Amino acid sequence: MSDLSFIRQKYLAYLSTLNHKIVPSAPLVPENDPTTLFSSSGMQAMIPYFFGETHPEGKRVADSQKCFRADDIEEVGDNRHTTFFEMLGNWSFGDYFKKEQIGFIFGFLTKELNLDPNKLYVSCFSGNKDLGIERDDFAATEWQKHFSEMKIEAKIIANPEKGLQEGRIFFYGEKKNWWSRSGVPANMPIGELGGPDSEVFYDFGEQTSELAKKIHQTEGPCHINCDCGRFLEIGNSVFMQYQKTNKGFEPLAQANIDFGGGLERILAAYQNQADVFKTAAFWPLIEKIQSFTSHKYEEEVNKKYFRIIADHMKAAVMLMSDGVFPSSKEQGYVLRRLLRRALRQAAYLEIKQETLVELVPVVIGIYADFYPHLKDQEEKISQVLQAEQLKFSKSLSKGLREFERMVVHQNELTAYLAFKLYESFGFPLELSLEEAQVRGLVIEDKIKELYAQQKQAHSNDSKSGSTSKFKSGLADQGEMTVKYHTVTHLLHAALRLVLGESVEQKGSNITAERLRFDFSYSKALTAEEKTKIEDLINQWIAADYAVSKQTMPKTEALKSGAVALFVDKYPDIVNIYSIGQNPTGTMRGKDYISREFCSGPHVEHTGVIGKIVLAKEKAVADGIRRIYALQKTV
Ligand code: ALA
Repeated sequence: MSDLSFIRQKYLAYLSTLNHKIVPSAPLVPENDPTTLFSSSGMQAMIPYFFGETHPEGKRVADSQKCFRADDIEEVGDNRHTTFFEMLGNWSFGDYFKKEQIGFIFGFLTKELNLDPNKLYVSCFSGNKDLGIERDDFAATEWQKHFSEMKIEAKIIANPEKGLQEGRIFFYGEKKNWWSRSGVPANMPIGELGGPDSEVFYDFGEQTSELAKKIHQTEGPCHINCDCGRFLEIGNSVFMQYQKTNKGFEPLAQANIDFGGGLERILAAYQNQADVFKTAAFWPLIEKIQSFTSHKYEEEVNKKYFRIIADHMKAAVMLMSDGVFPSSKEQGYVLRRLLRRALRQAAYLEIKQETLVELVPVVIGIYADFYPHLKDQEEKISQVLQAEQLKFSKSLSKGLREFERMVVHQNELTAYLAFKLYESFGFPLELSLEEAQVRGLVIEDKIKELYAQQKQAHSNDSKSGSTSKFKSGLADQGEMTVKYHTVTHLLHAALRLVLGESVEQKGSNITAERLRFDFSYSKALTAEEKTKIEDLINQWIAADYAVSKQTMPKTEALKSGAVALFVDKYPDIVNIYSIGQNPTGTMRGKDYISREFCSGPHVEHTGVIGKIVLAKEKAVADGIRRIYALQKTV
């Protein structure tokens, strides 16, 4: 049995002796959850039970969950990031809490796996007065007791930014020690649940690489959350006990535990091998890739290519085994990106693209003991892969030629060109970015958002290839377009008020004649809903509310409730526009009608806009609706 299988089995057996019921992994594409493309943590399938619904297996449940994180695609290349991984998870639904959980995980790591406790470090939540949540001294003291039983005096440190300071337990703020599906408290939508957490790290010893030195020079002394490679987070116990409401954070009716530990990372600690690609989870793949080429993994320049191929091929096989196939949309598009990127890397190692299909049985070999259904799918997966590879190889050389012609000539990669390359040659954005980086070309600012907009606009209306269609609605600042821009915010606010806060703007386009607005929503609006939305907008216009602009740090803006379309992409200082400061009758407990991250321009008072009518509303893609609004002509 491989060490990977051994650890998974050991964990599940151990949790079983602690009265947990072992449940199977949910599929990589979550069932009945249109809000997310992939399972990216073990807890997604467990949400209702944190709120008090009864889990059919009881209050203690554990599993090993297949996860895929598309956000990490570009991180792959270092010694630890992977897109596919398994998360060992255990949950208490209003049953045991912190004390037991800390004991369970410490026991698993030090007694079941015999990890050296001297190599384990811990972080806990430092508390936040604004949220009304205290520093987690309880958790810190519990950890301390367990270390002390192992004759280790675990010093608690409140200022980890100053370095290790011979400490073992460290307090960090919400960026590091708060967990929710949407990250830090400010980013959580109303209704979302989350809580403080406590992470365990494994120490691989001081790092002397050039990169590590640079990190310490620019970011200060090493601490357990430092990126130098010394410490690896191997498990996270989330104390899932709060829900975000209009009034702030309120305790859930029950206090829950959500533990997640990356199986591949625990394996790296178990094998004391800082490079996850050298563990049982990846090494058979790396060896196989080495057999295709004279290039060696150990040569530093090659590591990245080997890692990307191994990671992406593994993720692709696992996605396909859960029913995802290459396409131009959603999960299928992500899979296509993975495959094409892996195929492209093959060239750097002088490997023929068609050879990569030989990695399919190797992936299956790593996982078949726990996921026996993989074996039945080997043939089908290989066929799909070969078909995709054929398609891609035909377009790759053409695409590269076009890349030279269109992009290199201009010396700049723009979203427009990147999209054209994708559309005509199936050249995914990542490849264009890589090619541009290799050649040292300029890359357009915000290329990813702009590309996404183009892609969406295109899939919404594939008949139109006109570029002017994709222009930002703000390019033209005529009087009417400024008015429509303010209407965009009112419409967005009215949609969220009538249909719920899950509605998000997905795109907009303004001409002097009308406003077009795309938003996430799964069904057609009823006539009643449409009237309600229209009435609200017209009421707000008639009330002549002030439109005000404020400039502030992004974190403040998020705290103030401003709606952001791409939270991570905004600069540190942002403009927000609010409509209706302190209007009579508060909206959803807020003192404004709309507040959004935006660069303007807007009208100063809504009254100047004039009456608006909503025109046709239709579906433009799965889960995306489009609506038109225009000024009523008298
Ligand atoms: N849900 C937690 C995580 O994904 C355990 O880290």
